[in-house]
Amino acid sequence: MAAMTAAQSPAGQLLSVRDLAVVFRTRTGEVPAVREVSFDLARGEIFGLVGESGSGKSTVLTALTRMLARNARITSGRIGFDGADLLALREPAMRRLRGDRIGLIPQRPMTSLSPATSIGRQLRWHLDGLDDAGRLKELLGGVGLDALLDRLDGYPFEFSGGQLQRLLIAVAALGKQPDLLLADEPTTTLDATVQAQVLRLLLELRDRVGSAMVFVTHDLGVISQISDRIGVMYAGRLVEVAPARELFAAPRHPYTRALLEAIPVRHRRGEPLRTIPGTVTGANRLSGCPFAPRCPIALDLCREENPAPRETGLSLVRCHRAGEDL
Ligand SMILES: Nc1ncnc2c1ncn2[C@@H]1O[C@H](COP(=O)(O)OP(=O)(O)O)[C@@H](O)[C@H]1O
Ligand SMILES: [Mg+2]
Repeated sequence: MAAMTAAQSPAGQLLSVRDLAVVFRTRTGEVPAVREVSFDLARGEIFGLVGESGSGKSTVLTALTRMLARNARITSGRIGFDGADLLALREPAMRRLRGDRIGLIPQRPMTSLSPATSIGRQLRWHLDGLDDAGRLKELLGGVGLDALLDRLDGYPFEFSGGQLQRLLIAVAALGKQPDLLLADEPTTTLDATVQAQVLRLLLELRDRVGSAMVFVTHDLGVISQISDRIGVMYAGRLVEVAPARELFAAPRHPYTRALLEAIPVRHRRGEPLRTIPGTVTGANRLSGCPFAPRCPIALDLCREENPAPRETGLSLVRCHRAGEDL
């Protein structure tokens, strides 16, 4: 691979994001969408990124592929991927990486497929010919779509959302067997039963292919089913990173606690998390802790100074009061 630099990922880590910051230029000025985001991902590990709409999840994910919107700028940070410095790679090398080693599972399968081209033809586009009938059978069988083998001349609208999502997962995970899979709310448009099937499929593929995954969702139920580790985003920052079980058993950041408390007993999927008082608007411009205006335990210090991440138990928490017995 071109443009290799000294190994930047810590030993054993596939992905190492350090101090990532992204701003968007808008008519009303610059919007700091992502700030001081750092996390690592081991091979085969699933990292869930969760947070309210607008917290910066998609921006982090698209920064990892360097496919940000034109008005976006990465203002600081380093992204180490298997020893390469992603932000220093030339575009052709980055394109190869996106094709071979970093796979993307889209949010809406329908919009990622061409409506006027048969499924079979699109599979061939995505998978360099795919002439080998045996390989196609294996690929579709691998995501429970054996029945589609006889329907390859069908068009996307003739299939269900769940089938199309499986198809795209087959392409992204099995076709390319990437080291890293990125998924931005890949089950949000599916109904609950199909969603559960797709999540199971992703877990199964991780075991089979060994891909690591960054999985973005605003749904805590979904994130708990799929993640090994979870990062909670608030106003562009990662406010808590913890092993999944730890996060649910012992949430440390007041925002994480509020999120968990906001899950209704019978959580209805797809509903925005908006039962926490106050609003996130403008929080990414505050100088202190972005959550301070909504935080039930904020001190004066919290409004003045943004807390640095602190190790608390198994978690990394950005809270001045982390570790206090509250
Ligand atoms: N193309 C864009 N131009 C300007 N602002 C943007 C653009 N995309 C996202 N943003 C802003 O960046 C912030 C983070 O957005 P996003 O990463 O999409 O959040 P999430 O995926 O968590 O919903 C939001 O404040 C959003 O309004
Ligand atoms: Mg998003």
